[in-house]
Amino acid sequence: MLHLTGDIVVEVLNTCAMYRFDEPMIDDLVNAWERDSLYQKWHKASVENVKQFWSTQTDCIYWQSLPTDVYDNGYWLINGKSNLYYNCVARHAIQTPDKVAFINYYDDPSMRKTITYRELDILVKKVVYLLIQKGIQKGDVVAFFMPTRIISIASMLACAYIGALHMVVFSGFSADVLAQRIKDSNAKLLLTLPTIRRGGKEIDLVKTINEVSKKLADNMPEVLYMNDIPDVPNVSLNIEWLNNQDEAFILYTSGTSGKFKGVVHATLPYMLYVSSTFKNIFAPKPDDVYFCTSDIGWITGHSYLVYAPLFWGLTSVIFDGTPLYPTPERYWEIIEREKVNIFYTAPTAIRSLKTYGDEYVTKHNLSSLRVLGSVGEPINETAWNWYFHIVGQKRCPIIDTWWQTETGGFILAPLRNMSQQPCVAGRPFYGVNVSIIDNQLVINNAWPGKYKRILNQNGMYNSVYKSGDTAKLVNGEIKITGRIDDVINVSGHRLCTADFERVLSTMPEIIESATVAIPHEITGQTIVVFAVLASDTISTHEELNIKIQQQLRKSIGAIAKPHKIIYLDDLPKTTTGKIERHKLRELALNN
Ligand code: WTA
Repeated sequence: MLHLTGDIVVEVLNTCAMYRFDEPMIDDLVNAWERDSLYQKWHKASVENVKQFWSTQTDCIYWQSLPTDVYDNGYWLINGKSNLYYNCVARHAIQTPDKVAFINYYDDPSMRKTITYRELDILVKKVVYLLIQKGIQKGDVVAFFMPTRIISIASMLACAYIGALHMVVFSGFSADVLAQRIKDSNAKLLLTLPTIRRGGKEIDLVKTINEVSKKLADNMPEVLYMNDIPDVPNVSLNIEWLNNQDEAFILYTSGTSGKFKGVVHATLPYMLYVSSTFKNIFAPKPDDVYFCTSDIGWITGHSYLVYAPLFWGLTSVIFDGTPLYPTPERYWEIIEREKVNIFYTAPTAIRSLKTYGDEYVTKHNLSSLRVLGSVGEPINETAWNWYFHIVGQKRCPIIDTWWQTETGGFILAPLRNMSQQPCVAGRPFYGVNVSIIDNQLVINNAWPGKYKRILNQNGMYNSVYKSGDTAKLVNGEIKITGRIDDVINVSGHRLCTADFERVLSTMPEIIESATVAIPHEITGQTIVVFAVLASDTISTHEELNIKIQQQLRKSIGAIAKPHKIIYLDDLPKTTTGKIERHKLRELALNN
């Protein structure tokens, strides 16, 4: 481990000892084979000696106090002290102050805004001052209901500065969802904006916030509208140097039981994991322009839009709009204009954009692209082919990254791009020991990105982490095939069929309901609702369809749009009263 205490890491990107290969040459089979055997050798060594591997990855972190041990008995980075803000902003503001940190594109195509590392540092400090004024301290939870913009990211980093936990809720979710999460996390403050725009439509967030306030009554935290932030008077703002157990954030996701769960990550191991995985898998160069299309409301937004690219001091494009507005060439225009080198998006976007034809892509010069990433759901063959041939012009490897909110960062990826087997997430990352047991992908050992705890749940120590995803081996690589539970994936968003059923159970017209997921060409999966109506229901099916859709939208959000609603006299059940979902699925597929 390098001794960097007290120093600024110079030339962070160039000096770090990383497990790096040369640039991918995907047509070169001999090299591919060599890379493959090298990977096998290194991976084997890394899981046999996990501590040794991770100690090679800590050098690029600025340590206020160096860890005395990288791993010991379930704990990472013993006695280390550091800070995410310092690593992601402060050091770059000193070393590369004029480098652009973010290029922000907006739903409004006429807008574009950039911010340098120096300016970002100043903005973060303004928010820090504001948070301190509001009494926010280390360990407090700050809720976010904000779009993917510079100010939102600066506010997340401001939380990191003082050791407060951010809890970001996707700004497309409903007041119900936001209220539940604020309550569950006991957030002390809510940061938002008065209005946002999506797909050309203005969305009034004040209205949503007022609804939340009504629902939460006395539990409603103070609301800060972040559109106008005062300057900081000349005061000293102390950075909180955090230890290995101090927490960075809470992010909610759908759990198996149908109840949302607040996944909590600890700062130091999380920083180690996202910085290492990003560097090794996307292999960014210092002057690269990186474009991740995720929203900050998801884990991809946290790990690979906010923290990892900033850690490495890169320039990133961020975008708060949709890929289709005002035309389906939004992404390609941005890539051409900003000369994006690494592009990271979701299969659902690829499938949807593909339906508009190749011309929107091919009329743009996308020759800057070098790496194409994919995340959120399995990428099917047509989408993979279009991404590879049309978007990447056969030059760029498709880096299909499999991971979860709980894993913090990439677990599987086609490491070093050796095989390019379409639609296969690839190999485990170094130091991660993965296997498939009873068709399920499991992780057998400890890795730094693993969540620390689930909020308000008593931890159970399991040495084997069960992912809930089913998987199989294809020529030595891992292909993700589905889920073992009722978690579903609509447009890369994790939902649970039980969420739908819970909402429907609140409607007086419906005495029983069941939802199943069926495959969908664009969104990956889609929902079919089965409902049994109360005998005194007077509404027509058409009226009820609208009511059900409104209720789901209100309670979950626009993502929760059922594909079809089918009314039955009874749900098919086993003699023991269990709903026979396979029968419903068949019915849904044939309807
Ligand atoms: C699915 C998103 C196949 C999977 C980062 C997982 C994927 C869930 C992939 C986690 C992929 C994510 N191939 N399936 N490359 N990436 N998934 O927590 O079912 O929002 O369990 O994290 O998305 O969703 P989450």
